[in-house]
Amino acid sequence: MRSHYCGQVNETLIDQEVAVCGWVHRRRDHGGVIFVDLRDREGLVQVVFDPDSPETFAQAERVRSEFVLRVSGRVRRRPAGTENANLPSGQVEILCREVEILNRSEALPFQVEDDSELGEEIRLRYRYLDLRRPLMQRRIQMRAQATRVLRGFLDERGFLDIETPMLTKSTPEGARDYLVPSRTHPGEFFALPQSPQLFKQILMMAGMDRYYQIVRCFRDEDLRADRQPEFTQLDVEMSFINEEQIMTLMEDMIRELFAQVLEVALPHPFPRMTYAESVQRFGVDRPDLRIPLELVELKDVMGKVDFKVFSAPAKDPNGRVVALRLPQGGDLTRKEIDDYTAYVARYGAKGLAYIKVNEVAKGREGLQSPIVKFMPDEVIATVLQRSGAQDGDLIFFGADKAKVVNESMAALRVKLGHDRGLVERGWRPLWVVDFPMFERDDRENRWVALHHPFTAPKAENIEQLTDDPGNCLSRAYDMVLNGTELGGGSIRIHHSDMQQAVFGLLDISEEEAKQKFGFLLDALTYGCPPHGGLAFGLDRLVMLMGGAGSIRDVMAFPKTQSAACPLTSAPSPVPDKLLRDLGVRLRKVEAAKPAQ
Ligand code: AMO
Ligand code: AMP
Repeated sequence: MRSHYCGQVNETLIDQEVAVCGWVHRRRDHGGVIFVDLRDREGLVQVVFDPDSPETFAQAERVRSEFVLRVSGRVRRRPAGTENANLPSGQVEILCREVEILNRSEALPFQVEDDSELGEEIRLRYRYLDLRRPLMQRRIQMRAQATRVLRGFLDERGFLDIETPMLTKSTPEGARDYLVPSRTHPGEFFALPQSPQLFKQILMMAGMDRYYQIVRCFRDEDLRADRQPEFTQLDVEMSFINEEQIMTLMEDMIRELFAQVLEVALPHPFPRMTYAESVQRFGVDRPDLRIPLELVELKDVMGKVDFKVFSAPAKDPNGRVVALRLPQGGDLTRKEIDDYTAYVARYGAKGLAYIKVNEVAKGREGLQSPIVKFMPDEVIATVLQRSGAQDGDLIFFGADKAKVVNESMAALRVKLGHDRGLVERGWRPLWVVDFPMFERDDRENRWVALHHPFTAPKAENIEQLTDDPGNCLSRAYDMVLNGTELGGGSIRIHHSDMQQAVFGLLDISEEEAKQKFGFLLDALTYGCPPHGGLAFGLDRLVMLMGGAGSIRDVMAFPKTQSAACPLTSAPSPVPDKLLRDLGVRLRKVEAAKPAQ
């Protein structure tokens, strides 16, 4: 039907006949001449309808926004002064010889414009219109380009693209499962995979050596801008490798991706940071290194101050006291500080003490704060010295259980970075390594795996692990980019006795392990190679590359914050007969609300 995409019509085609198809982006009637901007996947082109051809002109008078047209005509240079430098086709226009209205459009619920500010519900309900916006077209195209580069990289290196089941058994990645009732086994359920973790390990045991898959994963968890109930992983696993080899390869892959898609050269190699250092300096295990603010440890000096808010956590083995210096933050108003206090309260902080540093040289006299009176001179000196305070700065304090301090001050650091324009431009990838093997769940009084229970410990033998599980590190690694966890993985346990020991520490009884992962435990006993891998969140990767604020903007058909699809109205009730066939009976009230 067409000879060119609209967006491809440019000066090289001047005086040639072309045929283009697309949607009416805008129609302007300039008394006598009608201009139509015709839009397709590749961009816009201006079509001119001249009253000298009454038939095409009459057609043009009938077209409205988002009508679908086929236009043929001659390409000509736009008259001087009417060029549009913002469009690749902006130097030229098509003088319409023939136009065919291929389809009409009803009046639109919103304009197909990049700058229209729309609610999520309406965007997702009319997703086909939302996706017509040039920005969304570019993002979806970038996603396809990214997966093409990633596949190419892995294919070239001998990785096999292997599919794993969607109807399967629960995989322990820490979220709630989506369940599918079985008709042929009444009362029994499949789980949709939270990841292909167990299958990719089995593939290594099956001798496939190098596996990858671009695969949908399902997790029923609380949603945020970078979390969806179904999302895509680039999942990788390799045999006979160590963490150095896989990290190097994955780094090369991400560098190639950025070079090809964005023409950006990422650092070589990516810096590495231990989990302990990352939490110490930034409060989190996914630091945004573009923000030049750091937590300063004060626990060792606050035990002696006459201020319980600081001294109690300083004396508590699970407590932490830190400072966060905001350069030139002295201009913050009372209201702004109150707003930040309310912000950290969301993370459980009970307050946000601060000191305004008017003049460092004057010591105590140069400071302005309700809390300096509680601090001996030497503590004040330490605070100023460790934080590197300068005249005009503001120093915030966090004191509480370490978990609360880390979470609240890490969030404050990022918020201040953005609010105060301190975020440096560019890309700051890093690897975070040396994660603890376990985390203590104080409420349930037991160990939980920080990564997943198949991650190998950094221990020579089982005794080393079981003697002091709290201090045992794991062979896990995360790739972090600009404060987002892009991907994570580990070297896996490949001996069944070690796997049993880890299950034991996690309070997973032998019986439970057998029932849940018996197939994996069996497979481990029949010649399992050393292996490891990782998975990237593809949506997050493309979100960052495309400068999108949410992974919803790089997924063609995402779900809302409440995990629903306004386009199809899913989820939806089903006829009783279907439920009967499945052997499912609904409970009345609970059915409407997911169990907590
Ligand atoms: P993990 O659970 O860390 O590891 O997931 C890997 C990556 O997937 C992305 N991700 C998500 N993206 C969008 N929405 C979500 N709800 C979501 N959850 C996770 C993140 C994350 O880094 N099987 C292991 C990997 C391995 O060990 O090889 C796993 O799934 O970017
Ligand atoms: P108060 O003694 O409660 O009046 O608090 C004095 C100052 O300490 C106020 O600025 C509070 O915001 C702050 N503050 C209270 N609790 C904490 C805490 N856990 N961490 C940091 N600052 C706190």
